[in-house]
Amino acid sequence: MASAMHLPLLLLCLLVGHTHGSRPVMLRSIHDSGASSSASACSSIPKGFSSGNKLPVVHRLSRCSPLGRARKRKQGGKPSLGEILHRDGLRLRYLSDIHRSDAAPGPSLSSAPAAAPGPSQSTPASAIVSFPATQNIIRSLPGVFDYTVLVGYGTPAQPLPLYFDASGMSNIRCKPCFGAGSDPCGGGYAFDPSLSSSFRTVPCDAPECGAATSSCSSPGEPCSFTFQNATYVYGNGTVVTDTLTLSPSAAVPDLAVGCMQVDHLYSGGDGVAAGNIDLSKSRDSLVSRLLPTLPPNTAAFSYCLPADTDAHGFLAVAPALSDYSGINGVQYMQLVNNSRGPSFYFVDLFAISVNGKYLPFTAAAPEFAGNGTMIDAQSWFTYLNPAIYAVLRDEFRQSMAKYPPAPAFDELDTCYNFTGYSYIQLPEIALRFGNGVIMDLDDRQFMYFFREHLNDDFPFGCLAFAPAQDVTFPWNVLGTQLQRTKEVVYDVRGGRIGFVPSRCGLR
Ligand SMILES: *[C@@H]1O[C@H](CO)[C@@H](O)[C@H](O)[C@H]1NC(C)=O
Ligand SMILES: *[C@@H]1O[C@H](CO)[C@@H](O)[C@H](O)[C@H]1NC(C)=O
Ligand SMILES: *[C@@H]1O[C@H](CO)[C@@H](O)[C@H](O)[C@H]1NC(C)=O
Ligand SMILES: *[C@@H]1O[C@H](CO)[C@@H](O)[C@H](O)[C@H]1NC(C)=O
Ligand SMILES: *[C@@H]1O[C@H](CO)[C@@H](O)[C@H](O)[C@H]1NC(C)=O
Repeated sequence: MASAMHLPLLLLCLLVGHTHGSRPVMLRSIHDSGASSSASACSSIPKGFSSGNKLPVVHRLSRCSPLGRARKRKQGGKPSLGEILHRDGLRLRYLSDIHRSDAAPGPSLSSAPAAAPGPSQSTPASAIVSFPATQNIIRSLPGVFDYTVLVGYGTPAQPLPLYFDASGMSNIRCKPCFGAGSDPCGGGYAFDPSLSSSFRTVPCDAPECGAATSSCSSPGEPCSFTFQNATYVYGNGTVVTDTLTLSPSAAVPDLAVGCMQVDHLYSGGDGVAAGNIDLSKSRDSLVSRLLPTLPPNTAAFSYCLPADTDAHGFLAVAPALSDYSGINGVQYMQLVNNSRGPSFYFVDLFAISVNGKYLPFTAAAPEFAGNGTMIDAQSWFTYLNPAIYAVLRDEFRQSMAKYPPAPAFDELDTCYNFTGYSYIQLPEIALRFGNGVIMDLDDRQFMYFFREHLNDDFPFGCLAFAPAQDVTFPWNVLGTQLQRTKEVVYDVRGGRIGFVPSRCGLR
């Protein structure tokens, strides 16, 4: 076995020496999963919040996931490409809706109650969210999240599996759960306020109630909110505060969340998390709470998303920046603001290059240059403005002209049939940032290979970038595949984001 491995490696080295701007990729290595996926690996994942400042992150389909339905699977599941694209579509529509309600006249997301973007003025007692009638976004929310952490809420801490993202809302399902079905609490994961000594309801005249203050008929009433359209209540609840416990050394007192009584938001789908923890820049997010208390020279948070659904990654709170100074290949990009998504994180991406050829956004879609690219921990692929994507696609196709094209798989329209090749040479793709940083991507970041779905005799690969289907979608989105070989460090106070080569170990 060992000697059999040497030949391809030698070949690889020779090829590297003889090519300029192209990187050879052994197809054999593409078909290796690269991560151990034995069931016993789950026991090596620390349970709960016991590993310093790092919380284990698992994919909802992992057999190590605490989510009920996933745990019952014999094997960790792999999302199919169709499922990935479907969920990405929902995610983009969801971000787009948040953007629309953010941009709508009236209270903005950050001044709204923790859970309620854009309350309407019409109802006195509750902040009500109206989504466009043709869209079913909130109903679709269970379909958009992939990665969970286990945190504690309340005193004593009640363990809850939660998704995390940066879209501006923290919600936790609360007992007693209302709603249809035999299990309105969704697999038993729900926070029980009556068991917590530090639980507080937020009155409607408190600042945490945000915009609902204006519709607060009698001060001291609970701050309640409803997610609904004209005919259907997706969820409702009250804004509350309690202690969020991330680790023995990191507890955040009085964190405001939407305590969901009726919750059709996070139920359903393959896994039933108890809610979502908001790491955005919005006023009531966990990050906004952490920032003033951070010791000097620490980032707000970082994460490493596992490359395989059976492996685990981590979410670190307040990682020390000095931890990264000795690591080769660490790169920092500037975090920038985008007025169309004030609570999201944007990087100052200006161009992409293919084999060193510079493809500036200013030529294709000038408004996306510098502050039009958000980084998202839930979309899988990287979605570009269609004009920017077209330029990348054309250049990539030219560089891959010697390989037979394969049919498009929905949005992934730059695909190849590598049948019969033992190695392939991919162009060099790099992201070019405003501060001069050039981030070289490796093939795991920019190619999607069908290693899990098709047998090895029938290998296909597609460029893991796609055009945003909604032409009015206001951003590029850097997805998780592009981030997965790195630890992504959000140095929010320092106004920068770091990419650190990492294997997602819990160290
Ligand atoms: C409200 O949402 C429900 C459930 O998603 C849907 O069936 C209904 O058509 C929606 N109503 C309107 C007026 O959009
Ligand atoms: C949520 O809806 C349920 C069922 O309609 C109702 O009993 C409950 O009072 C509502 N809660 C809030 C906070 O509006
Ligand atoms: C982005 O906005 C925040 C909050 O308004 C501000 O503190 C920060 O300096 C801004 N960053 C940049 C790069 O303009
Ligand atoms: C992006 O940056 C440019 C230049 O600083 C600025 O004019 C523009 O308003 C910004 N766009 C958004 C959406 O914030
Ligand atoms: C892929 O390439 C192989 C070898 O050239 C060919 O036999 C096969 O039909 C191709 N498959 C598709 C879907 O194009």
